[in-house]
Amino acid sequence: MRHLLRIRGLPVGQARAILDEAPRYLDVADQPVPRTPALLGRTVVLLFREPSTRTRSSFQLAAKRLSAEPLAFASASSSLSKGETFLDTARTLAAMAPDIIVTRSRESGIPELLAREIPTASVVNAGDGISEHPTQALLDAFTIRRHRGRVRGLTVAIIGDLLHSRVFRSNALLLTMLGARVRCAGPPTLMPPGLERLGVEPRPSVEEALRGADAVMVLRIQHERMHDSFIPSRREYFHEFGLTEERLRPTRDAIVLHPGPLNRAVEISSAVADGPRSVILEQVRNGVAVRMAVLAEIARGRPRGRRRRD
Ligand code: CP
Repeated sequence: MRHLLRIRGLPVGQARAILDEAPRYLDVADQPVPRTPALLGRTVVLLFREPSTRTRSSFQLAAKRLSAEPLAFASASSSLSKGETFLDTARTLAAMAPDIIVTRSRESGIPELLAREIPTASVVNAGDGISEHPTQALLDAFTIRRHRGRVRGLTVAIIGDLLHSRVFRSNALLLTMLGARVRCAGPPTLMPPGLERLGVEPRPSVEEALRGADAVMVLRIQHERMHDSFIPSRREYFHEFGLTEERLRPTRDAIVLHPGPLNRAVEISSAVADGPRSVILEQVRNGVAVRMAVLAEIARGRPRGRRRRD
């Protein structure tokens, strides 16, 4: 694997290989010294231009645990604030010969742009606009698989703001590719067009989407991407679409996932988020292992040693 740009186009065998490799990186985390030399001598640049807690921290930790040198780029204190363009910034960082660039951006399509403009580095998409967040989908599938033993044949309900969610798109593509049935529900104003093309079944209510589900994924309301009033109020949204214990009760033993950050009492109640069915913090833990598997898989395909440009 040279890059990980999207789930769309990722061969199913490659997705399965990452999911199969991830458990051994969970074991690395439990070692007294949580290090393995898979990326020894490699440099990983974290080029984040949008806020992140989980993804940036877990890529940084993943790179360290693989013995790489992580270089975290602080967008707010960089020369971007002096007017340097993003592409010039990326080329400047590329001149320091990183092996892998992990990128997050407000705009869609930046990972492909970087892969094209910086052919010496591998690129990993850590979330681009409303387009895709492939490592989030991989860690979600991994978490479901650890709890249910498989993904094929399961029913996964995805609830919330689907329109603005790159997590939704990547999950819909990956979970259906792995053989799950994906249902969804949310306000009509926050349902994207073409759900059927993604292989997803829309349901008229949260209760209908939840019926018989093995896993429920709640997606946050993305206020920062809304330039219009898509919901009447947070209170009404919670009343109609929020995941509460009462709504969850008929779903047997469905696990509850949320990619974070949470809007408590908007898309999910605290009782559910902190309750026995919640695997939200486990997703975070699994994220480090899955990202280690991704970085290691990419590093395996790259020649060792610095390429001089002069
Ligand atoms: N799930 C996720 O992408 O979280 P962060 O924005 O905190 O990285």
